[in-house]
Amino acid sequence: MNNFTFQNPTKILFGKGMIKRLTQEIPTDKKIMITFGGGSVRTNGVYEQVTTALRDHRFVEFWGIEPNPKVETLRKAVSLARERGVDFLLAVGGGSVLDGTKLIASAIPYSGDAWELVTSGRRPQEVLPFASVMTLPATGSEMNNGAVISNGETHEKFPFYTNYPLFSILDPETTFSLPPFQIACGLADTFVHVMEQYLTTTGQSPLMDRWAEGILSTLVEIAPAIRKEPHNYQLMADFMLSATLALNGFIAMGVTQDWSTHMIGHELTALHGITHGQTLAIVLPGTMRVLLPQKLSKLAQYGERVWGAQGSDKEKAALAIDRTEAFFRSLGLATRLSEVNVDEETIAEIERRFETRGVAFGEANNVTGAVARKILESVR
Ligand code: NZQ
Ligand code: ZN
Repeated sequence: MNNFTFQNPTKILFGKGMIKRLTQEIPTDKKIMITFGGGSVRTNGVYEQVTTALRDHRFVEFWGIEPNPKVETLRKAVSLARERGVDFLLAVGGGSVLDGTKLIASAIPYSGDAWELVTSGRRPQEVLPFASVMTLPATGSEMNNGAVISNGETHEKFPFYTNYPLFSILDPETTFSLPPFQIACGLADTFVHVMEQYLTTTGQSPLMDRWAEGILSTLVEIAPAIRKEPHNYQLMADFMLSATLALNGFIAMGVTQDWSTHMIGHELTALHGITHGQTLAIVLPGTMRVLLPQKLSKLAQYGERVWGAQGSDKEKAALAIDRTEAFFRSLGLATRLSEVNVDEETIAEIERRFETRGVAFGEANNVTGAVARKILESVR
């Protein structure tokens, strides 16, 4: 196990009716900006629960943070917040609303432009306190310090790191209004978050391995049931908690990681607007196939423990890849680029971007533009 430092300060308030707790969790002397997406919270009762809980607080509302939040939209929120003297932010919605809010909270006290914060790669020095009511299990943004921000002008999408939410409220009942496609993308995103922290090399930490495999096996078990019963509280509660635990640092202690699938997926979203979880369902099977020699023993372990594979390492790894792709298909997602109308031109552009940026992702720092091309070609 490698040395590591771990600190995750986010308080989680989990369960039915917990939105009420907003009343106590935010001091009444705060001037809050509540941030929202496109309006799902108006139809599922979340908006009403939030504003009722905050009826004795002072707040302004900012609407319109889109999926894959754009810096162009977030700059408008920064101006409004400065104008109104906001000193606390509350994101209400999916991962995009919270990610956008993380940048808003960081950009309000910053003298330069918000996009500079994203591209500089440095953690901002001063960040306003922020919290969330999360309505979509997927990103883990509710308990991590990451955000992924898009630039509509340049068609770029980059991760950005800042502070953690002070608290996040997770009420599984808020997920009952999710359309099946968003549920499928959320399940795929959660699954791939675990894989990016797990599918490297064996023998680093049996504890981290078992924890990751526990989340993967839970998702495999609950996904078909959720597809049938998306309003089953117990199932959605396990899904929601899986999404949080998949990306809050708990399964990453002292082990190597490989975020290649996400980095390639972000390019597909930046260039074509494809939903995040959907990009991952296409790219991950390709990453597994192309990096099979390097990841053989971990793929075999994954195949055996999560999918019950037997035989030689090669046989177990092959079955693991097939079963993973079949799992994504069982969610109703595409697993080939042709299904989402992505062709050679995009593959060439992603290769070019990675080469120009000089990046090399993965535990072996070898997923360059050329390797990304191979991964994408394998899932044409
Ligand atoms: O905008 P509204 O009207 O609220 O509708 C949203 C949106 O259209 C809708 N939705 C959310 N909750 C709902 C609901 N509809 C009905 N009922 C509900 N309860 O779902 C749509 C998608 O929302 P979005 O927030 O975009 O989805 P998600 O939570 O999957 O977030 C995706 C973004 O998070 C980033 C992705 O790259 C993408 O930009 N990620 C963030 C990470 C992080 N912060 O750690 C890690 C992830 O790997 C991921 O990259
Ligand atoms: Zn993700």
